[in-house]
Formats: sequence, structure tokens, C-alpha cells
Amino acid sequence: MMNEVIIEKLDHYGKGIARIDGMPVFVDGALTGEIVKIEKTVEKKKFCEAKTVDIITKSDSRVEPICPYYNECGGCNIMHMSYPQQLIFKENKVREVLNKFSDFDNVKSIIGTDDLYYRNKITLKVDKKIGYYKSKSYDIVPIDKCFIADDRINSVIEKLHQIDLGNTKEIVIRATHNELMLVFDGNIRADMCLFDGVDTIISNGIILKGKGYIMEKINDFKYVISPTSFFQVNTNGMINLYNQVLKYANLKGDENLLDLYCGTGTIGIYLSKYCHKVFGIEINKEAIKDALLNKEINNLNNIDFEAGDVKDVLAKNNFEPDIIVVDPPRAGLDKKVIEEIIDLNPSKLIYVSCDVVTLARDLNILKEKFNIIECTPVDMFPNTYHVESVVALERK
Ligand SMILES: C[S@@+](CC[C@H](N)C(=O)[O-])C[C@H]1O[C@@H](n2cnc3c(N)ncnc32)[C@H](O)[C@@H]1O
Repeated sequence: MMNEVIIEKLDHYGKGIARIDGMPVFVDGALTGEIVKIEKTVEKKKFCEAKTVDIITKSDSRVEPICPYYNECGGCNIMHMSYPQQLIFKENKVREVLNKFSDFDNVKSIIGTDDLYYRNKITLKVDKKIGYYKSKSYDIVPIDKCFIADDRINSVIEKLHQIDLGNTKEIVIRATHNELMLVFDGNIRADMCLFDGVDTIISNGIILKGKGYIMEKINDFKYVISPTSFFQVNTNGMINLYNQVLKYANLKGDENLLDLYCGTGTIGIYLSKYCHKVFGIEINKEAIKDALLNKEINNLNNIDFEAGDVKDVLAKNNFEPDIIVVDPPRAGLDKKVIEEIIDLNPSKLIYVSCDVVTLARDLNILKEKFNIIECTPVDMFPNTYHVESVVALERK
């Protein structure tokens, strides 16, 4: 059955919120102020989910999505919203959550990006078709192009459609400013996939072409990107993010800096030029191997890394940091890690977060010992509801 509803506002996932007889309905593909016809997709006791089937009154912020797969593919969720409005949506989301859950309101303007074709990495699923999973499903939406990816990545997708992919289930394509990497999880005959313009090709762990990794250069530093290592998927966004961390760190040159959840050491390396010593901790051993390689190729002698769970490494380490930078996964900081940070008593703490709800929860505890100075949201993922936040805290 179809209903006609007015969208009151958006939730934090970019879904429109409407009401039918008082019951909240979360509507995909609708914008604030719009009157839309909807079809319910999920009905629960206390709420419903629905999709937009017709737009009766259009918002000024509505744009035609540039991607023909948008309605089926699970990758993007707010592509029907103009980019300026996406930035307002994300900034307001950070503001609302921090205000509501941490009683904090000094949120600055969001840092956006000029590059909407930003993805330097895509993971294609293969099962007769090549594409992305549909939203909340393992069905594949076949694609010829990902409309938020680097053009060089898209030129490889076209070629993949023409070869026998054998037992491959997943294909990763990664790009840096100068190089391309193609990784198959299955066995591909070398003569089939030695595409021109792809610098390194790996099939089922075996290097068929190139060095088996690619390199990115950002400002003065080079970074190794191997098939499994974590590297931010938006390189320009990453530079904006790290520059904001650098700004909040306001380094004088004599500080010891702790980089927690350091991945391949990218933040610590970026800041190492401006401080005395850096120590990075990361649970993924492969990432730490890359971090050590990054240290070597950049000839750095004031940075070290250790593989392990942050809470265990901190418990036995005697590094005395002046500044701590944390960049945890969505789950945020473990309570024990917060206690350890408080015990280490740094003069500054910079919290980089990809989930504003867990950020707000952690700030609520941290604010007993730290003043929360300022937060700047950074948009790393245009066309999705995701937003990064950088928060500066100072010891009380
Ligand atoms: C958001 S990423 C940040 C990576 C890095 N700072 C960057 O900018 O590329 C979070 C990292 O935390 C690591 N991680 C997750 N749980 C951890 C834990 N308990 N202890 C240490 N590292 C952890 C993940 O492996 C991942 O590399």
C-alpha cells in the first residue's frame, strides 16, 4: 500500500523521518520538507521503513544522482542531495550529537572536498557478474563503472568484463597518484590480466606483475600500500584530516607524541617532522610491517611502532607522551584505554573519530580530566552519510 507523507527531518543515516498515525517511518531517498509517496519495506511494532516511489513536492536540495546504480547499490546513500547540502547535513549531525550526548557545542565549519571522484580503492564482488553488493544483501549489482572512484580504476573495470575470472570471488583495485594495483583473490592466468597501465597485479597471493605494492607520496613522505594494508580511501580528504590534526597539535618540536590505532603509521609519520619522538601502536601486524617499511623509506629515526592491542601495549610501555592522537575504529575507545590515557596525563589529546556517537560517549568520560576545546568535522566520504571529526582536548 502507498502512503503520502511529509518528511520532517533526516536521521543520522540520511533517511527521511515521517509519521503515519504517529508512528515514525524512515524513508530512503527523501529529503527534509518533501512530500513523497512511499512504499513500506519493513514493518515493526514501533517504527516502519519505506522507500520513496514518487516525489510530490521536491526539495531545492534535490539533485539527479550521477550514478545509474544508485537506487540498487549499497555503496552511496545521499547522492540525491546536493553536495553543499550534504556538508550542512554532516556538520549538523556532528553538532547535534555532541551537543546532546556530551553537552559540547564548539563545532567549527566542516572541511569539504572539491574531489567527488575520490575513491582510491574499490572492492568488486564476483559471481558470474562483477559488481557491488545490493544494500543489506549478498546479491550483486553488476557495474561497468563506480561513479565515485578514480577514473583510472574505472578503466580497469571495463577490461575485467572481457576476461575469464576463474574462481575469483573478489577483486580489489587501488590507485595512488602515479600507480595502480589489481588484486584477485582467485587464480587468474597471467596472460589474461597483464593490462597496460596497471603497475602491479597479484593473483591468489602471487605477484604476476610489478613489486606487489604501490606507493603514495604526500607532501614530503612516501607511503607503501600493500594489498591488505589500511590506507584512507580518499587521499585528498586524508590530507585535510591530517592537516587538521597537525593544526590542533600545534607542535613546537620538543614533544613526544603517541599515535594510537596508527594503521600503517600515516598520522605519526606526517607529524614526525614537527616533534621530538613518535610512538605508534596498532593491532594489525601487517599494518605494522608497512609502518616500519614507511619509516625506513622515509629515513626517519624519531619514530617507532609496536604491534598489539592498544590497552595491552600501553599497560606495559613507559613512553611519556606530551600529546596523544587517537584514531580508533567505529567502536571508539575501550574504557581501559581511556583510563590509561588519563594516567599518562598528556597535555593534549586529539581524537580523530569516524563515528560521532561513540566519540560523544568517550568525550563524556574524558571531559572529567580534559577540557574539550574544539571540533572540526571533515568530509572524507561524499555521497555517503559518513563523517570524520577531529577534536582537540587539553589537560585541565
Ligand atoms: C580508523 S583506522 C586508523 C588508521 C590510521 N590512523 C590511518 O589514518 O590510516 C583504525 C585502526 O585501529 C586498528 N585497531 C583496531 N582495534 C585496535 C586495538 N584494540 N588496538 C590497536 N589497534 C586497533 C585497526 O586495525 C585500524 O588500523
